[in-house]
Amino acid sequence: MECRPDVHGVNFKWKGVLLLPMELPPAATGNPIHNARGKMSFIRRLGLGCIVLAFLGLLYVPAYHSAQGPLGIGEVTSPSGPSWLSRYLEPVAELHGWTFNTSRNLNSYIHPQDNTTVLSPDDSCTLSASPYLLIVVCSAVDHQKQRIAIRDTWASATDMSFYNSTSVKVLFLLGQSENETLNNLVLEENQEYGDIIQERFIDAYNNLTIKSVMLLKWVTTNCPQATYLMKTDDDMYINVDNLIKALKSRQRSSDTLIGSLICNARPILDPKNKWYTPKYMFSEKTYPNYLSGTGYVMSLDVAVKLYESALSTPLLHLEDVYITGLCARRAKLRPVDHPGFSYAQRKLDFCVLKSAITAHRVDTSTMHTIWNKLKNSNITCQEKKVTVQHRHGRNFGYFSVKKRSTNNRCV
Ligand SMILES: *[C@@H]1O[C@H](CO)[C@@H](O)[C@H](O)[C@H]1NC(C)=O
Ligand SMILES: *[C@@H]1O[C@H](CO)[C@@H](O)[C@H](O)[C@H]1NC(C)=O
Ligand SMILES: *[C@@H]1O[C@H](CO)[C@@H](O)[C@H](O)[C@H]1NC(C)=O
Ligand SMILES: *[C@@H]1O[C@H](CO)[C@@H](O)[C@H](O)[C@H]1NC(C)=O
Ligand SMILES: *[C@@H]1O[C@H](CO)[C@@H](O)[C@H](O)[C@H]1NC(C)=O
Ligand SMILES: *[C@@H]1O[C@H](CO)[C@@H](O)[C@H](O)[C@H]1NC(C)=O
Repeated sequence: MECRPDVHGVNFKWKGVLLLPMELPPAATGNPIHNARGKMSFIRRLGLGCIVLAFLGLLYVPAYHSAQGPLGIGEVTSPSGPSWLSRYLEPVAELHGWTFNTSRNLNSYIHPQDNTTVLSPDDSCTLSASPYLLIVVCSAVDHQKQRIAIRDTWASATDMSFYNSTSVKVLFLLGQSENETLNNLVLEENQEYGDIIQERFIDAYNNLTIKSVMLLKWVTTNCPQATYLMKTDDDMYINVDNLIKALKSRQRSSDTLIGSLICNARPILDPKNKWYTPKYMFSEKTYPNYLSGTGYVMSLDVAVKLYESALSTPLLHLEDVYITGLCARRAKLRPVDHPGFSYAQRKLDFCVLKSAITAHRVDTSTMHTIWNKLKNSNITCQEKKVTVQHRHGRNFGYFSVKKRSTNNRCV
């Protein structure tokens, strides 16, 4: 079993150099009593920080933050100073949308007894014609362009004949916008395509966990006869052919929870980071092993267990850690790595894509490029099978991947 470099934690390597784990001081807890060692190391770090600042001046700040940045996505706001220092001087920073007092009981957002569905797709999941594989793309309300690109490309071939009477359905899951104009556009879009599920919650970045649990609610309620469910995002290219082959080659269709496994990830304590997780949200040192949220597949029996588990597991705003890590652990389910799932995409390599199941961070024009190239059977790749291991080494540009271990334990 292999572990991938971690997205939400700090234990990745940057351009081949191990920068982290950094000795992050613990977040101030509001409790003024720190032990003597804590005080000592605080003074030492303060001293060290001052010396480093004195010598390097402003150079230090960008260097530190580029190292902390989430894989170069560039959404980290510019710091005004070293954040570990400000964390000592200020109370623990609260997470936007999930402050200390916000309820994390999913029941109050999911309303398991109520019908929270605002928009339903056309008869996708009648009991007599349930799909073998249901792919639900979590999409933002205003991402109509992304949805159209997916409909025009990898989702367009998911009719029965193409997959040899294996039925595949692709649906989009959205929450509601606070802007009624956008909600009306979604209504029109669904009248045209009939492939949208809209659930009753505000579609915001910090509500992504609510979205994923709504997904489980909708599917277990409306599509219980499907065999497999895949959760993915609207910036993903899914090679449905390869996915079907991978699923068909499994001995049993139950007890499945597969994707790109991430092990030993540690919560990020820097409030400026996109994936900041305050101690009050998660107090353990490492996350349980989880699957990257860019694409994971489960059998429907697992979906039912995860949904039930979610209703009694306190919410964590990182949906993948929450669903495939915390809820899976509570339901005694083990997420399993499959080498076809990747979540990092640096350079398009069509021979690699030909053998992969997922590709990440694909914009709408790239979506068409990949689709057209993969459709064109003239592109021949070296007959030597492009092994999936090979793909990791090439495409995970920023990181170096831990060596594949022979046993099933994550290193
Ligand atoms: C959070 O709860 C505590 C105790 O219940 C209360 O004193 C505090 O004012 C609350 N904070 C906010 C921001 O509501
Ligand atoms: C839930 O509400 C939606 C939208 O009003 C409707 O289409 C759907 O049939 C309802 N589901 C159930 C199980 O009543
Ligand atoms: C479709 O099914 C037939 C007969 O089971 C098999 O020979 C063929 O290879 C299948 N095609 C695909 C694309 O899976
Ligand atoms: C609502 O969305 C529409 C369409 O994107 C936009 O033109 C309008 O300015 C938005 N209204 C508000 C209040 O944000
Ligand atoms: C979702 O996010 C919005 C805005 O951040 C917030 O107002 C709302 O309460 C959140 N939860 C739900 C269930 O919509
Ligand atoms: C595939 O290759 C053949 C022979 O090289 C060529 O005639 C044909 O136009 C090519 N097809 C496409 C779609 O490029």
